[in-house]
Amino acid sequence: MRKHHTDKYESRYAGRTRVMRSSAMRDLMSLTARPEIISLAGGLPATDAFPAEVFRRITAEIGAENLALSLQYGPTEGFDFLKEDIAQVMAAEGTQIDPAHVLVTTGGQQAIDLITKTFIDPGDVVLTEGPAYAGALTTFSTYEADVRHVAMDNQGMVIEELETELTKLRGAGHRVKLVYVVPNFSNPGGTTMSLERRRRLVELAEEWGFIVVEDNPYGLLRFEGEPLPTLLSLDEHDNVVYLGSFSKIISPGIRVGWIVAPPAILGKVVFGKQATDLCSSPYNQLFVHGFVASGAWRDYLDKQRGIYRGRRDAMLSALGEELPRGSHWTVPEGGFFVWATLPGSLDTADLLVKAIDENVAFVKGEAFFVNGEGGRSMRLSFSAVPEERLQEGVRRLGAVIRDQIELLRALGLGEWPEDSEGEAMGGRRSDG
Ligand SMILES: Cc1ncc(COP(=O)(O)O)c(C=O)c1O
Repeated sequence: MRKHHTDKYESRYAGRTRVMRSSAMRDLMSLTARPEIISLAGGLPATDAFPAEVFRRITAEIGAENLALSLQYGPTEGFDFLKEDIAQVMAAEGTQIDPAHVLVTTGGQQAIDLITKTFIDPGDVVLTEGPAYAGALTTFSTYEADVRHVAMDNQGMVIEELETELTKLRGAGHRVKLVYVVPNFSNPGGTTMSLERRRRLVELAEEWGFIVVEDNPYGLLRFEGEPLPTLLSLDEHDNVVYLGSFSKIISPGIRVGWIVAPPAILGKVVFGKQATDLCSSPYNQLFVHGFVASGAWRDYLDKQRGIYRGRRDAMLSALGEELPRGSHWTVPEGGFFVWATLPGSLDTADLLVKAIDENVAFVKGEAFFVNGEGGRSMRLSFSAVPEERLQEGVRRLGAVIRDQIELLRALGLGEWPEDSEGEAMGGRRSDG
């Protein structure tokens, strides 16, 4: 029998395959599918709450009224009626757009891919939050971008740091093409960019000549506090490209997202999309249309927000009881994620192996950086786990962390206070 110790195709792969990497979340998915595991890892919406009768009605209507259309190729840009629906959904967040500036994509992930394909040559600089959405990092590295992180705090990307980085890069002869941000309830930070920083970011885009890529799949999932204007709505100079998605507000299985951009940019993006998939699924676009045009999405979103708020509260109170002193974590006002950072020399990659043995999973912080940072942090998702299981999951996690501290103590590594209470980052809890 012939054995291949090396990959026999090695010499034929494109150079970019050397920098392509798998998303840590995808790798974890297979593990966390085991029923005994409480997964705080995947950023999954609570699709089990989707009303079955509405699903049946929409699919029956597609069959009765739009059978041929749903089975045929569609326009690369997406159906005009869906662009109108998208304008309506964005208006609910206070952003007025011209439907002619929309291009429908196969999920928000494709939107990131198409924008990167349109703007980035190998070696071009992309600046992003640190930590940043891992799926975007995967795309940027596939296109061989030079990705740099800009620190964030509980008000989002630190704009002073962005300015420092821009200056430093200019000094080194680099031009920054894209600044990618998730301003609302960021993945993985759970934080929201303040209004002042939003204003400054769009000003800087004009001053420095970069494109802001505003990725906003969670904006409508605010369950606390006042909505803030999108970067797109603050921008007066056409420097913002906005990415939206129905994944978190309807279903990720439907795979429908969108881009809002100036016509010149969309003209390029259309060619990129033709090369990728010709068009996004007409059937799925009709499904989204059925849901949005009937107005059913508004009630569904209200219900979802209530679910997520309850789950967030359950997670935060469990973290308060279980995480050791010196830990801190974000308090999201919407979305799916809490970002927690542990004290001392605790390493979340080590902890993850032990946590999985104890049937609880999370995503280690380093998955959200390209530079090895994030070792003491982890992303905890509360979106898809019922409250009691969330509490049990955090309890298991707390036990794993305490065991690890005991071990490090026994080895004389690090200093550990006796008391084991943590604190919420910023301590900012409001009841909006
Ligand atoms: C910030 C962000 N952008 C984009 C996506 C991609 O989602 P989709 O392709 O399902 O729209 C996700 C999914 O987790 C996300 O969190």
